[in-house]
Amino acid sequence: MIRKLAELDLRDKVVFLRVDFNVPIKDGKVGEPHRIDSALPTLRFILERAKKVIVASHLGRPDGKFVDKYSLAPVQRHLQDSLKLPVAMASDCIGPAVENLVRTGEGKVVLLENLRFHPEEEKNDEIFSRALAALADIYVDDAFGAAHRAHASITGMAKFFKNKAAGLLLQKELDYLGPLLANPAQPFVTILGGAKVSDKIGVIRNLLPKVSALLIGGGMAYTFLKAKGIDIGKSLLEHDKIDLATQLMEQAKQLGVNLLLPVDHVAGDSERKQPLTINDSAIPGDRMGLDIGPKTAQLFAAEIGKAKLVLWNGPVGLFEIPPYDQGSRVLAQTLADNHPAVVGIIAGGDTVAAVSAAGVSSRIAHLSTGGGATLEFLEGKVLPGIKALDDQP
Ligand code: 3PG
Ligand code: MG
Repeated sequence: MIRKLAELDLRDKVVFLRVDFNVPIKDGKVGEPHRIDSALPTLRFILERAKKVIVASHLGRPDGKFVDKYSLAPVQRHLQDSLKLPVAMASDCIGPAVENLVRTGEGKVVLLENLRFHPEEEKNDEIFSRALAALADIYVDDAFGAAHRAHASITGMAKFFKNKAAGLLLQKELDYLGPLLANPAQPFVTILGGAKVSDKIGVIRNLLPKVSALLIGGGMAYTFLKAKGIDIGKSLLEHDKIDLATQLMEQAKQLGVNLLLPVDHVAGDSERKQPLTINDSAIPGDRMGLDIGPKTAQLFAAEIGKAKLVLWNGPVGLFEIPPYDQGSRVLAQTLADNHPAVVGIIAGGDTVAAVSAAGVSSRIAHLSTGGGATLEFLEGKVLPGIKALDDQP
C-alpha cells in the first residue's frame, strides 16, 4: 500500500521531500522548469501544514564530488521566485551545518545541496541513508523522474520512516501511466519517435498487445522502412535492428495492431540543410529524412482524432531545427485541439520540449516528468522508488 500525502498528519512535523529537480541549467539559470513547476503543488501542500520542509534532489552526474556547475543554487533562486518565500540553501545535504539549519533556521523551506556530491548517494549507502533520514520526521517522495534509481535518498532512507507517502506529482504520474499498462481506454494510440529503435524495444514489446495503433516517426522509422525494403537514402539506420523491426511488424500484424510508418518525408542534404518535401515513402540516395512529411502528419493526426487515449514518446522529426519541427507541431496541436475528449500523455524530455515549443502544454492531459523512469515504467519494470514507498510490498 502506497499512502497518499493527504493521509499523513503533517502538523508540527519536519518533512523530507525528495524531488527530481535534475533540470537543465543554462548560464546559471534553470533552463527548462517543467520538473520543478510540476512539484510545486506538493511543496505548497506540505508548506500549508508542516513545520518545515527539507527539499532534496540530485542534479547531473557529479560522480560523488563537489562540482560547482552541478550546485542546486540556480534551483534555489527559481524556487524562491515561484513560492514567493525565502528558501534557505544548505551547503551540503548531511552534517552538523545542515542539522543546525533545519533545527534553528527561520524559514520554512530548506533546500539541500546536490545529493550526488556524496558517492554514498548512488551506492545506496546505509550510514548515509540513516544520516539523511535523521533530518526529518516524515518522508515524502515526489521524484518520479528518479524512481528507477535505487539510491540512498530514494530507497535507502525510506525504510527508516514509519510515516511516508507519495507526493502529489508522483501520484499523478502513477494515475496517468498506470492505466496505460493495466486497462487502457480504447482506442489507445501510441506514437513513438526519437532517434533509435534500440531505446524503445522494451516499450514496443510491452505496449504492442495493448494498443490499437502504433504510429512510428523520427529517426527510428527509417530502420522499419528499410526492413520493408524501402530506400531510405542517407537517413539514420540501425543495421543490427532491421531483423527486429521485421519481427515487430509481423507481431503487430498478428495482434491486429495498425502499425503506421511515414508515407512522405521532409529530407535534408548530408548537412541537414536544403529541406525538401519528398512525396513518397522512399528517399533518394543523397538525402536524409529528418521529419515526417505533411501527408504522414495528416494520417497520424486522423488516428489521434479517433483515439480515446494517446501516448506520445519521442519527437517525429528533428524538432530543434526548423522546418523539421513541423510534424511534431502538427501532432502536438492535434492533441491539444482534441483535449479533453482524447487524453494525451507525453513522455520524455524531448517530447515535452516539442510540445512546449508548440505552445500547447496546458491543453494536454499529462506531461510526464520522467525520462528513463517513464520508459522503464512503460516496459513493465517495477521501479525501486515506487516499491520503497510500499508499506506492504
Ligand atoms: C533523469 O533525468 O533521468 C533522472 O533525474 C535520473 O538521473 P540519472 O539518469 O542521471 O540517474
Ligand atoms: Mg537519465
